[in-house]
Amino acid sequence: MTQDDKKKAAARAALQYVEDGQILGVGTGSTVNYFIDDLKDIKDRIKAAVSSSIRSAERLKALGIPVLSLNEVGTFDIYVDGADEINPAREMIKGGGAALTREKIVSQAARKFVCIVDDTKLVDVLGKFPLPIEVIPMARTHVKAQIEEITGGEALWREGVITDNGNEILDVHGLKITEPKALEERLNQIPGVVTVGIFARRPADVLITGTDKGAAIS
Ligand code: 5RP
Repeated sequence: MTQDDKKKAAARAALQYVEDGQILGVGTGSTVNYFIDDLKDIKDRIKAAVSSSIRSAERLKALGIPVLSLNEVGTFDIYVDGADEINPAREMIKGGGAALTREKIVSQAARKFVCIVDDTKLVDVLGKFPLPIEVIPMARTHVKAQIEEITGGEALWREGVITDNGNEILDVHGLKITEPKALEERLNQIPGVVTVGIFARRPADVLITGTDKGAAIS
C-alpha cells in the first residue's frame, strides 16, 4: 500500500464514528481531505460541520455540507483530524499545514477527538517532525530567541506562509520531546506565542492508523 492508500484507509474507517444528526468538527490536511471526500456518502446524516481552516470549510461547502462557526455551536460531538506525529499516549505534533491554532481550538470543543494517520506518523518520542509554533509577527525576534533558549532546538521561520489568523509559523528542529505536556505549557507562556503545535494537554481519544493490512484502531 502507498502512503496515500493508508491515509485513505484511516479516513474511511473514521466514518464509523459519525452518528446520525451530529455536528462534526473537521481538521485540515491531506488525510482529512480524504475524510471530507468520504463524507459525501453520508452527508444527509450530518447536521453541520465546524472547520479548522478556510480550505477545509471550502471543501465541505462544495459537498453541500453546512459549515457553522464554533461560536454558533459551542461544544459538539466529534472532531476528526490528522497529525504530523503521534505517540503511544496519543499526544501529537500538529501544524504541518499551518492550521494548528484553529485545530487546537476546535478540537478542545469536541467531546471525542479521532485522529487519522498513516503508519509513518507513529513515533515513540515526539520531535523528529519540526515543531510548528504560531507567532504574532511583532514578537518575532523575541519569541524565536526564547524558544531556542528553552528547547535547545533551531527555530526557523516557515517561508511564505501566513496563517488564517494573519500570523507566522516557526518550525523548531532537533527536538526530543520527552515531556510533551510540560513543554506545551511552558512554550504557551511566552508572550507572542499564539499556539504551540504540541497537542498533549488534550490528546486524541481514538487513533486510527492506516497500515498495509488496512485500518487499525487503538
Ligand atoms: C495541519 C495539520 C495536519 O493534521 C497535519 O499536518 C497532517 O497532515 P497530512 O494529513 O497532510 O499528513 O496539523 O495543520
